[in-house]
Amino acid sequence: MIIKTAEFVKSSGKWQECPEPNIPEYAFIGRSNVGKSSLINAMMNHKDLAKTSGTPGKTQLINHFLVNESWYLTDLPGYGYAKVSKVQRKDFEKLITNYILNRRNLVNLFVLVDVRHNPQKIDLEFIQWCGESGIPFSIVFTKADKLKPNVVVKNVEDYKAELHKTWEDLPELYITSAEKKEGGDLILDFIEKTNDF
Ligand code: GTP
Ligand code: MG
Repeated sequence: MIIKTAEFVKSSGKWQECPEPNIPEYAFIGRSNVGKSSLINAMMNHKDLAKTSGTPGKTQLINHFLVNESWYLTDLPGYGYAKVSKVQRKDFEKLITNYILNRRNLVNLFVLVDVRHNPQKIDLEFIQWCGESGIPFSIVFTKADKLKPNVVVKNVEDYKAELHKTWEDLPELYITSAEKKEGGDLILDFIEKTNDF
């Protein structure tokens, strides 16, 4: 898909405040600092459409971007950020889960995981929840530029083995680097394939 336009629409503190759900929507989710906002910028060919930061917890609201005037790309706050209070963390979780369960134009959720790490409990629990809740999702490995290619392959295989302990059929997997602008094109192909814009 060629990106002709990408513009920020709105930040929302609750799903009820999100833009009218009248066009298809795709959302990025994952732990704080995993690289959601960076990958959105890389895919949109835009340096700072979505705000990024080396400090976790940068994105705290639901951010909607309108792409090619025909679909929404949504940047969600990260889950599992340790440095906020328990109450705040619960509020974030509620914001995210309510958005996912209620956003009726959501076509697919992209769950981002850092390819450098072993499968983390919080990600596995989230993936489990998506599966059990019948949420269509894909898994996106981020920061592939930080490892040698053979280590990336090994880590992805390990991740698949972990998921196979619970699931026979795995979701689509993508390997990306926002830094090198790699892998995002396949995500855009998937988005194009699931809709006729
Ligand atoms: P929150 O909004 O806090 O949930 O974080 P986020 O998931 O949006 O992460 P963000 O895109 O802000 O990136 C976090 C940090 O990781 C930044 O310092 C980025 O520069 C870095 N980063 C993100 N993607 C990549 C990547 O593909 N490669 C490398 N080397 N660094 C990356
Ligand atoms: Mg962010």
